[in-house]
Amino acid sequence: MATSERIRKCLFPAAGYGTRFLPATKAMPKEMLPIVNKPLIQYGVEEALEAGMTQIGFIVGRGKRAIADHFDNNYELEHQIAGTSKEKYLDDIRTVMDTCDFVFMRQREMLGLGHAILTGEPMIGSEPFAVVLADDLCAKPTDSNDLRALGQLAELYDRYQCSIIAIEEVPIEDTESYGVISGEEISPGIYQVSDMVEKPKPEDAPTNMAVIGRYILTPEIFEYLRNTPPGRNGEVQITDALRTLAQDRQVLAVKFKGERFDCGSVEGFVKATNYYFENEYSK
Ligand code: UTP
Repeated sequence: MATSERIRKCLFPAAGYGTRFLPATKAMPKEMLPIVNKPLIQYGVEEALEAGMTQIGFIVGRGKRAIADHFDNNYELEHQIAGTSKEKYLDDIRTVMDTCDFVFMRQREMLGLGHAILTGEPMIGSEPFAVVLADDLCAKPTDSNDLRALGQLAELYDRYQCSIIAIEEVPIEDTESYGVISGEEISPGIYQVSDMVEKPKPEDAPTNMAVIGRYILTPEIFEYLRNTPPGRNGEVQITDALRTLAQDRQVLAVKFKGERFDCGSVEGFVKATNYYFENEYSK
């Protein structure tokens, strides 16, 4: 199952407020919203595990304790359902808990995704690592035996040994919701990044190739993040750091296989719920 011998660590930035999902996210982390019967963050951790990553780092903020509880024992509940037919509902989360180590780091101020990733530096040290934004839910490709998006990126890392980001073509009118790349296609679906822009207006977007929430990053990204001034919305943007990194070193962008749902938006969340109910839960 494990594909990458090299990448063991995966960061889950989860400190954001989830304002697009208010009031549901007023007292509950967005990452705990369930798609059918499983929280978004668990799908993300399962995808990391499938890609061979077992050191899981969560970047959290205030009001995110439910995430830590989800990846811990609940003795009363487990005692209550022991030996009953309901125990099987805990199989997947037990597998994750038995296989992974979890580290929680606190981002005290919401200074952006780039800053959240920088908060994870003490856990990552000087090795390549992955980043998953759990509200982008990536399904298993249905027309091939490929792994989910992060596993596909990890396989490419084994070949190219550089930072690799996942991209998807979006309608040009949607570019304002994404980081957008431009670059040369060096192999089918694989682009050498030459430029990146955070949330451009459609008329300013260099392409319609949008960055989605799966990254493999080499550790020099931390130095670039430290040197990245706050950009759009006063936040430290990973897009800005990656743009500078791409000027100095190879950064690849990959059109991954399989469907992706933007579960940070109500529309994407509903689509994902229907998809998972029909394709996974009911089977
Ligand atoms: P989003 O832009 O989706 O923000 O952040 P959000 O707060 O989660 O949701 P909305 O837009 O208000 O509805 C992208 C990812 O970066 C994390 C978020 O938790 C999310 O996973 N993030 C963002 C942080 O961890 N810290 C930050 O300061 C900003």
